[in-house]
Amino acid sequence: MTALTLSTAAAPGLRADAIVIGVAKGAKGPVVAPGAEAVDKAYDGRLAGVLETLGASGAEGELTKLPAPAGFKAPLVVAVGLGAEPDKDAGYDAEALRRAAGVAARALTGARKAAFALPADGPGAIGAIGEGVLLGAYAFDSYKESAKDARAKNGKTPLAEAVLLGGKPRDAAHKGAVARAVAVSEELNRARDLINMPPNDLTPQAFAGIAQSAAKEHGLKIQVLDEKALVKGGYGGIMGVGGGSAATPRLVKLSYAHPKADKHLALVGKGITYDSGGISLKPAGHNETMKCDMSGAAAVFAAVVAAARLGLRVNVTGWLALAENMPSGSAVRPGDVLRMYSGKTVEVLNTDAEGRLVLGDALWAASQEAPDAIVDVATLTGAMVLALGSRTFGIMANDDAFRTALHEAAEEVGEPAWQMPLPEHLRKGMDSPVADIANMGERMGGGLVAGLFLREFVGEGITWAHLDIAGPAFNEGGPFGYTPKGGTGSAVRTLVRLAELTAAGDLG
Ligand code: BES
Ligand code: MN
Ligand code: ZN
Repeated sequence: MTALTLSTAAAPGLRADAIVIGVAKGAKGPVVAPGAEAVDKAYDGRLAGVLETLGASGAEGELTKLPAPAGFKAPLVVAVGLGAEPDKDAGYDAEALRRAAGVAARALTGARKAAFALPADGPGAIGAIGEGVLLGAYAFDSYKESAKDARAKNGKTPLAEAVLLGGKPRDAAHKGAVARAVAVSEELNRARDLINMPPNDLTPQAFAGIAQSAAKEHGLKIQVLDEKALVKGGYGGIMGVGGGSAATPRLVKLSYAHPKADKHLALVGKGITYDSGGISLKPAGHNETMKCDMSGAAAVFAAVVAAARLGLRVNVTGWLALAENMPSGSAVRPGDVLRMYSGKTVEVLNTDAEGRLVLGDALWAASQEAPDAIVDVATLTGAMVLALGSRTFGIMANDDAFRTALHEAAEEVGEPAWQMPLPEHLRKGMDSPVADIANMGERMGGGLVAGLFLREFVGEGITWAHLDIAGPAFNEGGPFGYTPKGGTGSAVRTLVRLAELTAAGDLG
């Protein structure tokens, strides 16, 4: 990953491939954002005009390259749009900085070193710029043999080094902001790697093995239930879904404990390493991206490791419900009844509604430890994508205050989210003539129906929320801001923020 450092050096004397500056949309044209004073001065204070001549407006996502002024060691200035200029006393929005830094980092692929002269007026801004750089510079090309040769020839590697100007290397808060950005971004990028990994390599067993290595590295406790243990333990949901695949399922419990913690947070992730739909096979066109169906488990995994690296004063247990949903002679059929870990029976009407089955078992397992709250994360329904689009995740919960707190945490870290209801009247659509509940109900409101199903497997009296990240987990379009094509790492930053708020006692 890109190396990130703070420096008080002046821009002109810096040896770098480029100096990144911010340009905002002012009332009368583009304005140069604070941080770029030295560059503007070298342009005789005419930089805003120069940028306007080059067609820059300061709009978000915009990127303008211009030659560095005489006397600068760096040859290139890269101006990135920050959107509307904030009011006089207000600073730049953290998410605007994060996105602009990401746009610049992406454009600097192939460069060795860049200096970021963006408005870094405090730890919040420094952390946001740092995250934008580290997340924007991400690339997944470990499977491109051809790219390896090309890289050797034209150096098309991600930006190697980023120097943040304006931050003070000796200021504890500034240093802390960089350390947090590095820990969160590194784990988030690892989640992206897992999501992007092809499903023939990332089997449930392989995922569990990666979790084991991480547990060893970060001193976490880990327990892996393999298929024998799952059968013995009565995990009918996970075994039912995983039964059709030669790659057998796993339930991973990864625990981070702080000696002085007085709160316990449980995170549960849907980890379908490939969702073919099973016997209710998905049609072609709906399955090429279904390696992303373990994005919830990847987010939970990343968040637990990040919490450990940050040393948060809270206990965090991550549950990864890992299985591959495949059709075969041993696969679960529409019409089968599964006996879940909780003892409830489920009539499987559609084998493509598999996420709720593995999550049902994991939610019940998490409930047995009576945590203060449970949050599950899942690429659960296409209905949520229809409702909220491909950049916003849905939040459902059995507690209004907790749902609102999660929404605020998501907003704070720059993850678009929206609160969704769990309408009671939709529950009866899942009544089954043979079992306690069916795994499908009314088609309309399918995302909420799935949420209502999950609620049945949360222990009595436990605060619970469900994040349906089916939209934002995997970016099928082009890259934007700090978000690459493919796995995005959706929900990681919201979960880390939730752990921080829980540690600080700012929740319940
Ligand atoms: N993994 C899918 C949901 C999904 C859709 C994730 C699009 C990412 C992008 C899930 O397992 C699924 O197939 N859900 C079904 C449920 C239905 C059969 C009740 C769906 O949404 O169609
Ligand atoms: Mn499915
Ligand atoms: Zn699925």
